[in-house]
Amino acid sequence: MAKPSKKIILAPSLLACDFSDIKSQLKQAVDGGAEYLHLDVMDGVFVPNISFGQPLIKSLRKSCDMVFDVHLMITKPERYIDDFIDAGADIITIHSEATENCKSTLDYIKSKGVKSAVSVKPKTPISSIYNLLDCCDMVLIMSVEPGFGGQKFMPEMLEKVVELKKESALRRLDLDIEIDGGIDASNALSCVEAGVNILVAGSSIFGKPDITAATKEILEKATGN
Ligand code: DX5
Ligand code: ZN
Repeated sequence: MAKPSKKIILAPSLLACDFSDIKSQLKQAVDGGAEYLHLDVMDGVFVPNISFGQPLIKSLRKSCDMVFDVHLMITKPERYIDDFIDAGADIITIHSEATENCKSTLDYIKSKGVKSAVSVKPKTPISSIYNLLDCCDMVLIMSVEPGFGGQKFMPEMLEKVVELKKESALRRLDLDIEIDGGIDASNALSCVEAGVNILVAGSSIFGKPDITAATKEILEKATGN
């Protein structure tokens, strides 16, 4: 396989963690090579599930050095950007389907020195966000319907990755491409080959008895080792 141009990063999703043992489980993931922490914020409106919000993120920030990758699955995310920045977000992802003010929200995130990203649900065409690429550091492609962990990976979403990668090269953008949903050791390499450089994984890390080994295995497979 040709060497990917960007470093491959694994972002364990807190949603799959045992919430009574967060500190120790995160340490095990870091020991396995995880660098980002993917934080799924759900409001019960944009998606049919409620997860956690700013207070949890703020309190984790005190003891965790990982890059906080906050995935906002909430309606009108522009209402809460300041709160998530104050809580310690390093990257904030909004959904293109969640607001009519994507461009100004992404510009605002960037203006605050935080990385901005836009995400698309499986049924949203990737070309629908091409007008936003100039305001983004990263695009998050959902490979399951957002709302729940533990769902099956949709391989056809890799076509979106390939398309986006081409568009990004054509426009000479230095975009990160993240994929989220159903990622495990069996499909990580296909994601990287399509153009992904950041992999989110929840149940395939925290659902395993040995979190460190599970993290290492996904990273090794993703990098073709
Ligand atoms: C789904 C979330 C995902 C989810 C991933 O709405 O955005 O981040 O937690 O979990 P797994 O890896 O179990 O599909
Ligand atoms: Zn997510």
